[in-house]
Amino acid sequence: MCGIVGYVGSASSAPILIDGLRRLEYRGYDSAGLAVHGSRAIEVRRAVGKLRNLEAALAERPLDGHVGIGHTRWATHGRPSEVNAHPHVAGPIAVVHNGIIENHLELRRRLVAAGCTIASDTDTELVAHLVHLEVERGKDLESAVRAALGEVRGAYAIAVLSSREPDRIVVAKASSPLVVGLGDGENFCASDIPALLPYTKRMLFLEDGEMAVIEAGAVQVTTIAGKPVERAPRVIDWSPVMAEKAGYKHFMLKEIFEQPRALEDTLRGRLDRENGDIHGHEIGLSDADARAIDRVVLLACGTSHHAALAGRYFIEALAKVSTSVEIASEFRGRDAVIRPGDLVIAVSQSGETLDTLIAAKEAKAKGAKVLSIVNVIDSAIPRMSDATFYTHAGPEIGVASTKCFSTQVANLLMFSIWLGRRRDTLSPARAAELVEGLARLPQTMKDVLSGTRQLVANLARRYVDARDVLFLGRGLSFPIALEGALKLKEISYVHAEGYAAGEMKHGPIALIDNRVPVFVLLPKDSHHERSLSNLQEAKAREAIVIGIATEGDEQARTVSDDLVEVPDIAEELTPFLTVLPLQLYAYYVADFKGTDVDQPRNLAKTVTVE
Ligand code: G6P
Repeated sequence: MCGIVGYVGSASSAPILIDGLRRLEYRGYDSAGLAVHGSRAIEVRRAVGKLRNLEAALAERPLDGHVGIGHTRWATHGRPSEVNAHPHVAGPIAVVHNGIIENHLELRRRLVAAGCTIASDTDTELVAHLVHLEVERGKDLESAVRAALGEVRGAYAIAVLSSREPDRIVVAKASSPLVVGLGDGENFCASDIPALLPYTKRMLFLEDGEMAVIEAGAVQVTTIAGKPVERAPRVIDWSPVMAEKAGYKHFMLKEIFEQPRALEDTLRGRLDRENGDIHGHEIGLSDADARAIDRVVLLACGTSHHAALAGRYFIEALAKVSTSVEIASEFRGRDAVIRPGDLVIAVSQSGETLDTLIAAKEAKAKGAKVLSIVNVIDSAIPRMSDATFYTHAGPEIGVASTKCFSTQVANLLMFSIWLGRRRDTLSPARAAELVEGLARLPQTMKDVLSGTRQLVANLARRYVDARDVLFLGRGLSFPIALEGALKLKEISYVHAEGYAAGEMKHGPIALIDNRVPVFVLLPKDSHHERSLSNLQEAKAREAIVIGIATEGDEQARTVSDDLVEVPDIAEELTPFLTVLPLQLYAYYVADFKGTDVDQPRNLAKTVTVE
């Protein structure tokens, strides 16, 4: 997830672009850059790290011009470095981009074969070269962008300059956000509303598959295919702070609702729907390596540990490899047995958690191969890993992890499908069903979020004063029970326990009375009957029972005091749906209590101490 911004008018563009980027820095912050039409050519300044480094570069070598584009980067292809920072230049063309180009490998091969010299590891630079080739064939900038995008698959919001047409910016959008701001004798573009609010409140929202030519006195919108589009501007009455959170009260709530998008970005380019398989080149193992794995050991902390627990179910069920899950700090604390045939998977949002990093290094030193599942590109864990299968959730600001959890679970499921196919433990038909289920998942998650939000907020209001809350689940619902309890503890400071439902009778059942809400996860899966019995056991001790069940489950409805329903879905996909109401419940309890939701007391987003 990156931020882009553009300006065309009579003012000096660089300060406006920098100001816009500062408001977009929440979208990414590993490098930044500007391209501005100077008196003769396009000039570019780029810098690694926070925006202040770019400002320092500009103070040394200022940019002067009335038309320009800017970018703040959250790396997805290629490590954070100056050469990978945007804008990317090819001949007279400069491009900034937010999104992921799916067919980048194929485009890179073709461009290299056509004689292009590609300086960076990014997918974006390829777009600059494609546009350049079209301009060389005699096209104007608008037609060149149109033709180039005909070759691109994936998600993008791009803004393009050409030194041959210094009065305009051409922008285009597919899946990634882009707004055009309308001023008086000046016009703007940006990834998001907040970048533009100090300059204008009149915005044109582009739809997927649309592009626009932005000049100081006019904005023309067309489809990428070339059909004119009439679009009325809208007036936005947000305050800049609200806008940064896209209208949500907290980043955590925004990130909960961002999960369908985060999933979509994480699945993009990886589902092989034609063959019911996963494109697994990022996993870094050959088919022979996949067949030779003796054992998988998953290492993680906190929420990532819960994702890893779900991963164990997938790997054992689909690929039939014996798998253990280790809390990274505990793995380090003993002389754990690791053999050369073991595959260690380190799961981490930040890629910097010290316990996970050291545990992975220890495992590597003992001869294991290390694959990591990480969200922050080129962080410490990917740098020491043999391969990294990145999640593409974008920056997560709320300390309590939500969207990164879902994308970690998605990567673990994709890994297991890939492994199962290579080991012949997963039939092509079943793999195809799972791949199709994954492809549909973002929409289903969207439906669950909008369908349960009010109901869950009401439950939170009703039980906000409960001193203890239990979460029970079996099978794949057990890690979700743990995650539901962790979320509640983290942000609302309520004592909560996640338990394997079958273990309740060995202890936590003593906690139950008529003041304790008990969430029982019982989607229609292979554990349903037994989970229903556990629900009845809790009910018999007068607990307040909240069932999280599959739509139409009449037994669950009869015994639950409150019921949250999720759609019927393949067992492996249930965690993606059942976790949503639990995240919302924790959020609303915390909000009603008035705690600091995004930065709860005593916690840190990234823990780099032992
Ligand atoms: C901290 C965060 C948690 C996170 C855990 C592991 O405790 O507050 O949200 O789950 O670290 O972090 P990682 O970056 O390794 O996933």
